[in-house]
Amino acid sequence: MPATVVVGTQWGDEGKGKFTDLVAKEMEMVVRYQGGHNAGHTLVVDGETFALQLVPSGILYDHITPVIGNGVVVDPRVLIAEMDMLEAKGVDCSSLKVSGNAHLIMAYHQELDALHERHLGDGKLGTTKRGIGPAYADKAMRVGLRVQDLEDPKIFRKKLDVVLGYTNQVLTKVFNRLPVDADAIAEEYLDVCAPRLVPHIADAIALVHNALEAGQGVLLEGAQATFLDIDHGTYPFVTSSNTVAAAASTGTGVGPRDLDYILGIVKAYTTRVGAGPFPTELFDDLGSHIAEVGAEFGATTGRPRRVGWFDAVALRRSIVNSSVSGLCVTKLDVLDELETIQICVGYTIDGEEISGLPIVVDRFADCRPVYEELPGWQASTVGVTRYDDLPANARDYLQRIEELAGIPIDIISTGPDREQTIIKRHPFE
Ligand code: GDP
Ligand code: IMO
Ligand code: MG
Repeated sequence: MPATVVVGTQWGDEGKGKFTDLVAKEMEMVVRYQGGHNAGHTLVVDGETFALQLVPSGILYDHITPVIGNGVVVDPRVLIAEMDMLEAKGVDCSSLKVSGNAHLIMAYHQELDALHERHLGDGKLGTTKRGIGPAYADKAMRVGLRVQDLEDPKIFRKKLDVVLGYTNQVLTKVFNRLPVDADAIAEEYLDVCAPRLVPHIADAIALVHNALEAGQGVLLEGAQATFLDIDHGTYPFVTSSNTVAAAASTGTGVGPRDLDYILGIVKAYTTRVGAGPFPTELFDDLGSHIAEVGAEFGATTGRPRRVGWFDAVALRRSIVNSSVSGLCVTKLDVLDELETIQICVGYTIDGEEISGLPIVVDRFADCRPVYEELPGWQASTVGVTRYDDLPANARDYLQRIEELAGIPIDIISTGPDREQTIIKRHPFE
């Protein structure tokens, strides 16, 4: 049976966690395929909130095997803290599997992330400062330490000495900082973290393939979103991994022919955290209203999110980039009080209409949106679970999004809770 993919279609925080949790009910395995603890995925079940960074969003079900795939960068200290947080809430994490091939985020990656941001000054990216970029850079430089290295202190130490031979030069000579002490790192990672994580290390590729061959439902959970993708996003204001659906393949070892239904998650408006172009951004009271009603603050960083109108041009690109099969529109309820709502249906640059997105990504910042105005519905949609119970104008708004997207909206979200959901068309029927 082929795997199902959950992918973000905007700049992140669309509600991937909520829908991974929802869809996981009908699956046997949930695999995170890229990113690290820059992600914050929120699940709300019976009023209780879980904000996850590394643990796959299927963890709340006893029947799910949660897997952290090879494409993820894992800070073992954060993963242990997250497992402790879940266990304290009564969630059993014993079945969690972590790919031995996933790369480790080390303490010095975090320091380098912050130093690099400072070095960029006004041009800083607004990263989460969690060491994501430096960890993926070491992976690409082939000097990274991997989760499997926690199993063998000798190999761990040897690799650490190699990478610190270089990294300490950068820290001391470029950034004028103190060198990192290899002994202290080895003590923390090998003596404190390894005993907790080694029992979870697995050949994740074999696990996933065995599940697929046995006809089990496998759900691949993405982090971030198209426009934060290192190749397809608004570079350089992006994260350091591929985030489009194809990354579900490289980040888990499932070949592309074995990916089937791709669920694209899209907010009923747009948000972005950190720096970078955002053509439909709102700077007025309306933007503040949406941010307030939508509680637009990072799930784990607490950073305020920038807010803007729905961007159908960007969405169309995402759909193509990730072969999205169907959409899940989230946070419809956040727009309940608005008199009118705008949808971006095109861009102009220097007064000239362009087709699609600008070829030169730097011109993204010069794009001015062309809006289509729709009437609001000014009635509560909070918690609505039947499509026909939505106000007519809300249905018209969704229908217009569907027309512009060119693919069906299968699911609509009307609140953070798992139950506050409309299944318009069951994705797998
Ligand atoms: P993710 O990173 O894509 O998993 O999304 P986040 O969890 O970072 O951000 C989505 C936020 O919106 C979370 O606080 C969710 O609880 C919340 N949320 C999800 N769907 C809805 C919805 O339909 N309505 C409202 N009001 N909140 C929602
Ligand atoms: P989820 O999975 C929103 C953004 C950061 C910054 C840029 C690079 O919850 O949707 P990084 O730390 O990755 O080097 O930062 O990417 N970013 C996110 N924005 N949601 C996320 O994840 C994000 N992960 C990274 O704000 O602009
Ligand atoms: Mg998030």
